[in-house]
Amino acid sequence: MFDLLKPMPADPILQIIAAHRNDPRTNKIDLGVGVYRDANGATPVFRAVKAAEKILLQEQLTKGYLGTAGDPIFTDLLRPFIFADGADASLIPAIQTPGGGGALRLGGELIATAQPKAKVWLGTPSWPNHRPIFEAVGLEVKEYQFVDVEKQELLFDPMMSSLNGATAGDIVLLHGCCHNPTGLDLDAAQWTAVAELCVAKGLVPFIDLAYQGLGESLEADAQGFRIVFDKVPELLLAYSCDKNFGLYRERTGALYVKATNAESARNAASNLAVHARVSWSMPPDHGAAVVRTVLENPALVDDWRAEVASMAKRINEVRRAIAEAAPALSAIGREHGLFSNLALSRAQADALREEHAIYLLPSGRVNVAGLQIAEVPRLVAALEAVGAMPR
Ligand code: LMR
Repeated sequence: MFDLLKPMPADPILQIIAAHRNDPRTNKIDLGVGVYRDANGATPVFRAVKAAEKILLQEQLTKGYLGTAGDPIFTDLLRPFIFADGADASLIPAIQTPGGGGALRLGGELIATAQPKAKVWLGTPSWPNHRPIFEAVGLEVKEYQFVDVEKQELLFDPMMSSLNGATAGDIVLLHGCCHNPTGLDLDAAQWTAVAELCVAKGLVPFIDLAYQGLGESLEADAQGFRIVFDKVPELLLAYSCDKNFGLYRERTGALYVKATNAESARNAASNLAVHARVSWSMPPDHGAAVVRTVLENPALVDDWRAEVASMAKRINEVRRAIAEAAPALSAIGREHGLFSNLALSRAQADALREEHAIYLLPSGRVNVAGLQIAEVPRLVAALEAVGAMPR
């Protein structure tokens, strides 16, 4: 049977993780995978997470199963950080998922069950795993232009005109904040216009919110989502705690669905439970138990908020340092979150890795949090040396 298989290409992000790990050079710089690094280059466990883990170690009484929807207290405790006051939880069923990726997949399954002919509109460029996830559930993926990578500018008018060509019931995938891979986000007026277009054309937004708090603040980074939520009758939200709780390997996320009435909300929840049951049966517990423990303890919430704020502060300091060191890279200073997408050729990305020990994705995506401020001159010189400094 296995003789029938053809080799599959490796995911570019996972490939870069492995290549960086295997590089013996001590001066290597990892701007590849989207993981926050502090001013010492470390990705430490959050203080509040450590404290919550100690509490769990002492107080957790059982490892018995939670059920397909995971822990409803975990998904409920996240609600005030995600939704505006007054959002009616009875119309927003939620399910705990293995990371934001699990939420995207489960949302894709729900869409494919409800509306198998729906097309998923994906902005370009996007996270390399978005398209395969939706294609894996049998949905057709269409693209709208989102960013001009050469100019480091949003392509808002082309985006709106592409979405104007979408059909009622189609899905619009949007990054809630800290766009991956470009760091370019819609402003409030643009979010409003997209939401109004969705309402006018009967399109359903699917918002991927994986970096809340790493752009400006937990509140500011929820604004785009809240604008859309307020206007549209139905949407899906894939939420990830991987970055803003530093729980990467614990695979901690949730899917929220906004339904128009109580019966649809119940039906969405029961369909999600069935899809989860046949996929992973029940989600892993530890990360969600940690988040719940943090959010149940006001002192830990304060400390968590402070740590998230310090991450955004450092990311924005690195961005400013790059922009000041090289005016040609000034767009990086205006972008948000971990990523910027430089206009590089594959050969230039290879040369940065081979000749300068600087790892980034072949698409030109860099994780700015992977850079120490002292390394900024080296990055600038390397970009110049391989001919990749924007003109
Ligand atoms: C990334 O974009 O680097 C992260 O979201 C990690 C991943 O799973 O791709």
